[in-house]
Amino acid sequence: MANIATYAIAALLILGAALFAWMRSAQLVLSDEQYTLARYEPAPAHDFEWQEVGEHSYASNCRNCHGRDGQGWDQYPGLSDTARLFAAPGGREYLVELHLHGLTSPRWGAPMPSMGHLQDVELAAVLNHVLTHFGNTPPAGTRLYIPEDIAKLRGPKRTPWEVNELRPGEQALAPGRPAPESP
Ligand code: HEC
Repeated sequence: MANIATYAIAALLILGAALFAWMRSAQLVLSDEQYTLARYEPAPAHDFEWQEVGEHSYASNCRNCHGRDGQGWDQYPGLSDTARLFAAPGGREYLVELHLHGLTSPRWGAPMPSMGHLQDVELAAVLNHVLTHFGNTPPAGTRLYIPEDIAKLRGPKRTPWEVNELRPGEQALAPGRPAPESP
């Protein structure tokens, strides 16, 4: 009797391990991101083929909040203004900082979470995707992002409020400061 129980437990353990291994491999197939990103080792130093990764990354990291077509909803802004921010002085850096550290501003009721866990390649790609979709046209002659642009700005931790201070334009309100009177 004791033997049967031992064998049964052993069989269950083996079955469990096999099931676990199968689930893990299925998971690897499901998240092909790492696989796709592996094509970019070492990180490209010049213009690179970001289209596929950018689209994929937008769908998995941004779409829930900003909408399928970047139209935004509820507390989440639409993204049609991104190329204007990009073109403004300091805007190029601001867009990266906002992804590295997140953003909290008085403009919207929700914060933008940090995307700093994404690799440089993926962040450059998803930013380029936004800058060329949703009604955005980057100014002619400007260089889009390459992974190095992201790597350079990975530095000391900023709070999402500090990021708001970097926003180009008059809407860059500091916490608690009243909105400027409109003329
Ligand atoms: C959990 C929801 C959420 C996710 C996921 C998210 N965002 Fe945001 N995003 C926000 C919110 C909320 C704001 C506005 C924050 C504020 O102004 O306080 C914002 C702001 C922005 C802005 C505009 C900043 C400005 O100054 O107008 C851009 C650009 C942006 N997000 C891009 C992205 C991209 C690209 C991704 C995916 C990599 C992404 N967001 C993922 C919620 C999200």
